[in-house]
Amino acid sequence: MNPQFAPLFQPYTFNNGVTIKNRLVVAPMTHWASNDDGAISAAERLFLQGKADGFGLFVSAATLVYSENGKAFAGQPYAFDERHLPSLREVAKMAHQGGAKALLQLHHGGSKAITDNAVAPCSTEKARELTALEIDELVQAFAYATDLAIQAGFDGVEIMGCNGFLIQQFTSRQSNRRSDKWGEPSAFPLAVVNAVVNARANAKRPDFIVGYRFSPEEAGERGLTMADTFALVDALTEQPIQYLHMSLWDFNKKARRGADTNRPRIDLVHQRLNGKLPLIGVGNLRTPERMVQAINSGFAEFIALGKAVLINPDLVAKLQSGREADIDTEIDLSRPDRYCFPARLWAMQQKGLSFLPPNKGSDWQPWDVQDHQQA
Ligand SMILES: Cc1cc2nc3c(=O)[nH]c(=O)nc-3n(C[C@H](O)[C@H](O)[C@H](O)COP(=O)(O)O)c2cc1C
Repeated sequence: MNPQFAPLFQPYTFNNGVTIKNRLVVAPMTHWASNDDGAISAAERLFLQGKADGFGLFVSAATLVYSENGKAFAGQPYAFDERHLPSLREVAKMAHQGGAKALLQLHHGGSKAITDNAVAPCSTEKARELTALEIDELVQAFAYATDLAIQAGFDGVEIMGCNGFLIQQFTSRQSNRRSDKWGEPSAFPLAVVNAVVNARANAKRPDFIVGYRFSPEEAGERGLTMADTFALVDALTEQPIQYLHMSLWDFNKKARRGADTNRPRIDLVHQRLNGKLPLIGVGNLRTPERMVQAINSGFAEFIALGKAVLINPDLVAKLQSGREADIDTEIDLSRPDRYCFPARLWAMQQKGLSFLPPNKGSDWQPWDVQDHQQA
C-alpha cells in the first residue's frame, strides 16, 4: 500500500470498547430493490455482494421501522416484524463476510413517505399530524427495530435523523410547530435514542453500537441552521451512544448560517464535539487523494463513501494493494455488468440524476451545487 493512505487504515476504538479496523465506512445507500414486503430480493443480494469488502463499517440502506405509513422508497427494506428477520440476517451476514461491522439504518419517512397515509409532526399537503399516542408508538418502533437488528446479528444501528425524513422533521422548526412536549426540537430524537439505548440494555449488549446521522442545515427561513445543529449535537453527546454521522453532499461544504460561514460545516461540528464522540464525514470523496485529505483534515474520525463504492466494487482492495490509480470516478454506462445495480437504480443512473455518480462524458454537477433543500 502507498504509505500516503495509511491514515485511512488506523483502527479506532469506540467508547463501548468495540474496535473498528479502519476509518472507512460504506455510506447508507437505498437500492430500491427489496421486494414489496420488505424482504431481500435476488437483485438486492447481487447489489450488496462484496459492497462491504475491506471496510471497517457498513451502514445498510434506510430500513423502515414502522408499518407502511413511513415507507419513503419503492423497494425499501423493513424491520418492524419478526418475519423480516431472515432478510435482515442475510444483510448482516454479507457485511460480515466483507469483514465489516454491520449497522442497520433505522428510518421512517414522515411527510416524505410515498403512502396515502403519511404522517408528520405537523400536517402538510401530503401528511396528517401525528397524535401524541402515535408518537409514543413510533418511538417504541425504533426500539423494536433495534431488537430485531440485535437478533439478526447486526453489530449496531444508525438512527437516521437526516435528509429531511421523520426525525429531522421533528428537529426543524420549519416542519415542527407543535405546542405539546414534542414541539421541542430535540424531544423526539432524544426519545428515539433513549428507546434504542434501552433496547440494547435489555438485550445485555453493551457492545452493540448506536450511531446517529443528521443533516446540519436546511434552506428556508425557518430551516435548520448550524446553531440548531450545535444544540442537537450538544444534547446527543450527553447520550451513551458511540458516534455521530453528518450527512453531506460535499465533505468540505461551508456553513450557510448560524456559525462562521467561512469554515466547513464538518470543521465546526467537529470542534463543537470536542472529542466527546467520533464523527463520520461524507460527501463526494471520489478520488483517493480526497479520501485521505478528508481524514488528514482532522475534521472527522471516519469517512463514509457512497458514490465511490457504487463506481468501484473493489475500492478498498485497490487502495490497499497500490492500485489507487485504477480507482474510477465515473460510471461507464456501457458496462452494467461491472456495477450490479438493481433495475430501478440503474434506470436512475442512466438518466444522470445528480445525487448519483457521474456518467462518463457527462457534465454532471454534484447535488449540493444545485443548493437543494437538504444539501
Ligand atoms: C443511491 C444512494 C442512496 C442513498 N440512500 C441513503 C440512505 O438510505 N440513507 C442515508 O442516510 N443516505 C443515503 N444516501 C446518501 C449517502 O449516504 C451519502 O451521504 C451521499 O451519497 C454523499 O456521499 P457520496 O458522495 O460518497 O456518495 C444515498 C445516496 C445515494 C447515492
